[in-house]
Amino acid sequence: MNSPVTVVEAEARALPFPVPANVHVETVVSVRHYTDRLFSFRVTRPQSLRFRSGEFIMIGLPNAEKPVFRAYSIASPAWDEEVEFFSIKVPDGPLTSELQKIKPGDPILLRQKTTGTLVLDALTPGKRLFMISTGTGVAPFASLLRDPDTYEKFEQVYLTHTCRDRAELVYGQELVAGVVDDPLIGEFAQGRVTLYSTTTREPSDHMGRITALIESGKFFADLGIGAFDPATDRIMICGSMHMLKDVKDLAEKYGFVEGSVSKPGDFVVERAFVG
Ligand code: A2P
Repeated sequence: MNSPVTVVEAEARALPFPVPANVHVETVVSVRHYTDRLFSFRVTRPQSLRFRSGEFIMIGLPNAEKPVFRAYSIASPAWDEEVEFFSIKVPDGPLTSELQKIKPGDPILLRQKTTGTLVLDALTPGKRLFMISTGTGVAPFASLLRDPDTYEKFEQVYLTHTCRDRAELVYGQELVAGVVDDPLIGEFAQGRVTLYSTTTREPSDHMGRITALIESGKFFADLGIGAFDPATDRIMICGSMHMLKDVKDLAEKYGFVEGSVSKPGDFVVERAFVG
């Protein structure tokens, strides 16, 4: 088991500043830039890190006496040897302006604690699980889609991902293709995961905000499935503040009741990282 990193360890790694208590110094393994707004990266995993798929963790860079930490959904599943993140790049963002420059081999800080509401335990049992995401809000679902528990609890899983343009959809598309092909998860996921990608600012197969597509019934018609039904369906929502509110209002219109880990329900909501 790793103990929290100490000043001595920071010195051993020649970091410019002492590392705060309960923070792990990990190493960037790989980075992939999708667009000028989105990138993903993988880092080494602290041996002692335990989390539930769908949770978030605080990450930072060792570039200041008091480093800026931000909440990031873990995009990799609980069984993965590395930890994956999917991030926005904000030119003047306190963390992402620097984070977007990371390269393999660079140090990165991870706090010890993980938490979050987008976990299977916060939902009561159901048959169909709908994961509704925009932008980097797809990240926690990248974790859950690679967790065998998801398929133990649900018969069918639908991931919706809405972005401004087609290039921003690539992460989600490769994720779902990878899940179905995965030697470990493929056997659970085969024929049970459906991706519904939509764009709002560039033409694509499915255009429009997911809220409008649900309200008009086009989403259900396109997939040839029945409309939301709280008796059989559960919903997880992750995206920007406004999107969360609009999808939550929609879910409540259909009669879904919000849940949490302490009181499981029909749907759960979490804000995607935005700064
Ligand atoms: P739009 O282009 O119409 O704003 P962003 O990159 O700004 O975080 O947005 C990601 C996606 O989320 C965009 O396609 C955006 O559509 C969509 N979106 C933004 N606000 C909402 C909302 N309130 N409900 C549904 N989708 C939204």
